[in-house]
Amino acid sequence: MFKKKVKLKDTGFFNGFTDNHSHILPGVDDGVQSNKEALAVLNCMAAVGFKEIWFTPHIMRSMYNTTADLCEKFDLFRNKYTGPLKLHLAAEYMLDARFEKEFFGCPLCLYDKYVLLETSCIAPPFNFYDLLYEISLYGYVPLIAHPERYIYMNKNDYRELKNKEYLLQLNLFSLYGIYGHAAKKKAEYLLKNGMYDVIGTDIHSIRALEEGLESLCVDMECLGKLMDIRHNYKFLLCETS
Ligand SMILES: [Fe+2]
Repeated sequence: MFKKKVKLKDTGFFNGFTDNHSHILPGVDDGVQSNKEALAVLNCMAAVGFKEIWFTPHIMRSMYNTTADLCEKFDLFRNKYTGPLKLHLAAEYMLDARFEKEFFGCPLCLYDKYVLLETSCIAPPFNFYDLLYEISLYGYVPLIAHPERYIYMNKNDYRELKNKEYLLQLNLFSLYGIYGHAAKKKAEYLLKNGMYDVIGTDIHSIRALEEGLESLCVDMECLGKLMDIRHNYKFLLCETS
């Protein structure tokens, strides 16, 4: 019975769901590029039950946006949006040469407190743990995006991050293999061992969203763990759904 798989979209999992990671704000990073596609993504999310969406555009050396630009473009977009979803703005910060200047100037955090962070998939910054500690000294909580995708991280690294009380965020579609077999296996390991705190789609396009919703099937054990995370983070992140 526990091996039987169900399509996540058909389980009710997304009813009232808050997506804590997405690239939907048009034309500011490598995600959605037009208002038309952004509306298609939001309509698709609303149709399966999503309730709130955090836009988390990349802030990194190779993206030519600024915090002020992002705030302005987000306000314009939100003011024109008439659909049912509640929209919020934060950012996904790459721990690269731009990070300290951008983040400590005017941080864009989830729920005013949680800093969504990513590193290169291949290697961490040389001062990775020092940066995380510095962020926490300022009263923010590091939230590591898609830890399953970092090929340099092993079980000991995940345990160390958890021991330091940093949070881990699952890229939901890692579970069907969008980032390859190794990331899928790591995601299943982290999920089944209760190491994820938060879930996001990290969606970059309508095509990826539609494919992900159709492709993502989970067994009963994974479904139970995903439900547990949703239940817990309502309190952790003050989710309003
Ligand atoms: Fe992302």
